[in-house]
Amino acid sequence: MKNIVILISGGGSNMAAIVKTAQSQDWAGRHGARVAAVISNKADAKGLLFAREQGLDTQVLDHKAYASREAFDAALTACIDRYDVPGAPVLVVLAGFMRILTPGFVNHYAGRLLNIHPSLLPAFPGLHTHQRAIDAGCQVAGATVHQVTAELDHGPILAQAVVPILPGDSADALAARVLTQEHLIYPRAIAQLLQKNRQN
Ligand code: GAR
Repeated sequence: MKNIVILISGGGSNMAAIVKTAQSQDWAGRHGARVAAVISNKADAKGLLFAREQGLDTQVLDHKAYASREAFDAALTACIDRYDVPGAPVLVVLAGFMRILTPGFVNHYAGRLLNIHPSLLPAFPGLHTHQRAIDAGCQVAGATVHQVTAELDHGPILAQAVVPILPGDSADALAARVLTQEHLIYPRAIAQLLQKNRQN
């Protein structure tokens, strides 16, 4: 059974959507994969409560306790790689994990490290995506699921969803509209990747 490890920093609504979809679509039976653990860099991340309720392993790795980005990423790698099984390296899913990752970390998980970003990449990498889309006068916004490469918020695109920007939209209103779509496209993109990997 292939393990999926999800990294979060906050609410964890994408993580919850993935966990629920994995259950309702029987990823264990269909794809030979299961969500094994949720790791947060913040002890107060709300998503940890849901993960614990679901009986998932949870870990907190506070980045502030490490002297450097490299030291934190090395500890995180050790934590994640405990979920490797012979012939089935772990799939790492970033779900609102608000950390910039070192090239070493990204290379270690090349091809098995996914992220969701709340914009239509390559537009608006980085932070404050919704306000920036509104300020730019965009008529649509959205979210992107992509493979992670060393450059922030870049990498091969696996899925996108588009939503309208409505007159008078606030960043919060737009973020909520985008988030409902994130909850659909992220589990779908992961299932497609699992399916593809199993066929190869
Ligand atoms: C989501 O909108 C996700 O796309 C975004 O953070 C939110 C997390 O929500 N991620 C990033 O901005 C990464 N750069 P969640 O914790 O409820 O899933």
